[in-house]
Amino acid sequence: MNLNEIIELDKSYYMNTFGDRTPVCFEYGKGINLWDTEGKKYYDFMGGIAVNALGHAHPKLVEAIKKQAEKLIHCSNLYYIEKQAKLAKILVDNSCADKVFFANSGAEANEGAIKLARIYFKKKGFDNKYEIITLKNSFHGRTLGTVAATGQEKYQKYYTALLQKFVHVPINDIETLKAAVNENTCAIMLEPIQGESGVNPLTHEYIKAVKKLCDENNILLIFDEVQCGIGRTGELFAYQHFGVEPDIFTLAKALGGGVPIGAVCAKDFVAAAFEPGDHGSTFGGNPLACAAGIAVMEAIIEDKLVENSWNMGQYFKDKLSDLAKECSCISEVRGMGLMLGVQLNNDKAVEVKNKLFNRGYLVGSVGSNIIRLLPPLIITKSDIDDFVKVFGEILNEVKGDK
Ligand SMILES: Cc1ncc(COP(=O)(O)O)c(C=O)c1O
Repeated sequence: MNLNEIIELDKSYYMNTFGDRTPVCFEYGKGINLWDTEGKKYYDFMGGIAVNALGHAHPKLVEAIKKQAEKLIHCSNLYYIEKQAKLAKILVDNSCADKVFFANSGAEANEGAIKLARIYFKKKGFDNKYEIITLKNSFHGRTLGTVAATGQEKYQKYYTALLQKFVHVPINDIETLKAAVNENTCAIMLEPIQGESGVNPLTHEYIKAVKKLCDENNILLIFDEVQCGIGRTGELFAYQHFGVEPDIFTLAKALGGGVPIGAVCAKDFVAAAFEPGDHGSTFGGNPLACAAGIAVMEAIIEDKLVENSWNMGQYFKDKLSDLAKECSCISEVRGMGLMLGVQLNNDKAVEVKNKLFNRGYLVGSVGSNIIRLLPPLIITKSDIDDFVKVFGEILNEVKGDK
């Protein structure tokens, strides 16, 4: 099918929740490149929104999926699943967690974390300790529970009455957070770097103060690492930057390298609150998803992609900061590792994104003035140099284009 036929088919049969999509359909990929149905080549600086950590068609991931598909794609959680136990061990061995539960997406992992926090206190006899504090401009998912956790009204307004009881406070403001805490607070849940709202990092001081507040008030600390986990920020898990261990953290996106999987990772004392029948999933942690997860984790560790994420992230930031000196329309470059946001001081982010697309570069935009970059962790200096050159040309073009 050609692109127009695909667009027609989509418009006739697919629910229109994604608005006018970028008019392209990708047919295959390799490394950081994608090719569309018309044969045009692209450079992927969005990585499926932080999913394709290994890039496209990574041989280790493809081989693992192929081998597992030939043996066993799915088997119920009524039975033991070797790959599930092995992936859980890899996550535990490399993190502060003691136990893992697998879900199918980021939202579902966060639902699991919210349920775990609540059940933990219920079983301890704290009947009213169910309030969860999250941050303004956070994004935790699209299910009814996680949309209530998300601190953005635009995602909530049509879905009232929302699940009770989430309280949203501004980021990096410890006094307002302290004032929001009360005897019913059961957890504070946050993204160490807010992704969807434009790459907004929390400060070290804030995260340390949040941890102290949790410890002093018998509150669980939950980190949503759905986007910033799995090497994205230059540490395997973002919490490792801050010298603070969450009681629960969630993963998804890059964990399966594109095969849907999410994870709730927790310390033993809280994980023990989930007992048989308290939580579950048909697909969560099935053999195919876990085979993909193992391949991703092994490739990330063996190929030193966490280090690459940090080094290339620093290089990328430096190059973008150099560009900012020449190009007055960049007001800030922020983020960690390969999770970067470029703040423009005009409202031309969508135009810049579209022009980059026309030149074969895929990036994201947030609002009218932020460009979001989430390239695969395999990216090289020369990929970054090529991008920055084209980005600079386009920024100069739109600057003159009043
Ligand atoms: C931090 C964060 N949490 C949760 C989610 C939801 O994940 P999913 O779309 O897999 O449900 C996202 C998705 O963008 C995210 O960035």
